Amino acid sequence: MSKLKIAVQKSGRLNDESIDLLKSCGIHIDNGKDQLKASASNFPLDVLYLRNGDIPQYVEDGVADIAIVGENLLEETENDIETVRQLGFSKCKLSLAVPKEVDYPGVEFFEGKKIATSYPNTLKKFLAKNKVNADIHVIKGSVEIAPNIGLAEGICDLVSSGSTLFKNGLKETDLILKSQAVLVKNKNLTVEQEELLDTLLFRLDAVQKGKK
Ligand code: PRP
Ligand code: MG
Repeated sequence: MSKLKIAVQKSGRLNDESIDLLKSCGIHIDNGKDQLKASASNFPLDVLYLRNGDIPQYVEDGVADIAIVGENLLEETENDIETVRQLGFSKCKLSLAVPKEVDYPGVEFFEGKKIATSYPNTLKKFLAKNKVNADIHVIKGSVEIAPNIGLAEGICDLVSSGSTLFKNGLKETDLILKSQAVLVKNKNLTVEQEELLDTLLFRLDAVQKGKK
């Protein structure tokens, strides 16, 4: 029998809401949190808990058939996969920020300066579009600390509540993109898998409609 494999974030902000969404679609997943793979008991679905950054490539390669990820990540990795639904949660922005005492003239501020980020590709495109030459310094996490430790003059990172910026004495200057969680799929699903996905989408649309 045909099955669908869905990849979701192993830990992090998307994880809980992704699992809640599946539950609200009537799908029971029996798993201990430490398991990296779990099966639904009442739907032909396996759930793979993966590192967020790895998920788009897994979907492109067909290791996972579908996945829940943030649009921000898709923009960064540019994998050849298809977005099928926007899910309306995990809304955030990818923005530039500088220390709050900086008298910020506009994005030209960053000319010749250093920017710390976990999103080098997206940032590179934004800077090119704005004709700014800056030095991009890639760090994987805790990006907001960079200006305080003299690593960079500014940062480019996700902003949700804004509390991380605030706590680190930074202010948002430029919005690069808005993001939310989306459901994506591999482009070469079998007919049977497409049918399973349609069933899932039918339930999902009903749940989303009920929320409005
Ligand atoms: C994320 C993101 C921002 C922060 C934004 O970091 O990288 O730093 O959340 O959320 P806020 O605006 O509500 O404060 P996360 O806490 O996931 O840690 P990491 O960057 O170290 O991985
Ligand atoms: Mg962070």
